[in-house]
Amino acid sequence: MPAKIVVIGSLNMDLVTRAPRLPRAGETLIGESFATVSGGKGANQAVASARLGAQVSMVGCVGSDAYGEQLRGALLAEQIDCQAVTAVEGSSGVALIVVDDNSQNAIVIVAGANGLLTPEVLASFDAVLQAADVIVCQLEVPMQTVGYALKRGRELGKTVILNPAPATGPLPAEWYSAIDYLIPNESEVSALSGVPVDSLESAERAASQLMAVGAGKVIITLGAQGSLFAHGQSFEHFPAPKVKAVDTTAAGDTFVGGFAAALAAGKSEADAIRFGQVAAALSVTRAGAQPSIPLLSDVQAFAAS
Ligand code: RIB
Repeated sequence: MPAKIVVIGSLNMDLVTRAPRLPRAGETLIGESFATVSGGKGANQAVASARLGAQVSMVGCVGSDAYGEQLRGALLAEQIDCQAVTAVEGSSGVALIVVDDNSQNAIVIVAGANGLLTPEVLASFDAVLQAADVIVCQLEVPMQTVGYALKRGRELGKTVILNPAPATGPLPAEWYSAIDYLIPNESEVSALSGVPVDSLESAERAASQLMAVGAGKVIITLGAQGSLFAHGQSFEHFPAPKVKAVDTTAAGDTFVGGFAAALAAGKSEADAIRFGQVAAALSVTRAGAQPSIPLLSDVQAFAAS
């Protein structure tokens, strides 16, 4: 039986434009294309885990609009269990995304239905959490709900992963004892730790700072620089596979979903990180959030090449 992963988080419809560069304040740019693409950090991570070999349940909220049905449909098409995806009155979450010619992006999200995933709604799906091996959370749903999910995951003895995205400042200190793996990127770990991160050395300082306030194992994703795995007194650097990037949207989500799937399948932490990195590298060679996430066979073929 494949391992079971429960993702608690956001579903967004991504409204994506490509432009030569990101706009400056007050500027109007002429875009090159527009697409609506299923996204949301939670849903992207659920899709990544499912495509990469896990059995996945999603806990989240969609709106009563057309996007809500599309977002649910995209997960159902991946055989993701959506019994805990609740439709609420109002708009679904949306993300306004600009991707530039250097494959970098800028994103503004509006929570919509994601803001209605309360601890009470989550508690009503406790059976889904109980059935999980691994629980994965991010920060695009209310903080109280994330806090509840982490605590409940710890009580149930599950492996708990937090991708603190987007991060605006330090996490509540009491969260750390409930998290097995904290997976921020450079900007998120800077916000969490107060240490500006732009190199491996500064990433080590930021990880040390987080471990000093209670974090256990920290994996900092550093884009093309790979990732840093910090635990105890040890720091391990994993260089990233080299690829030609087209669009980095959902690369972090693909790493998190891939790492979770590999860990749940019994791989070592180091192998799960390498697996997540290959999956994330493949995702940046394709456009969009969920459409860019590779299959297990793609990752195996890349690793064998
Ligand atoms: O991480 C990428 C995701 O961030 C996008 O799909 C968008 O919805 C935002 O949540």
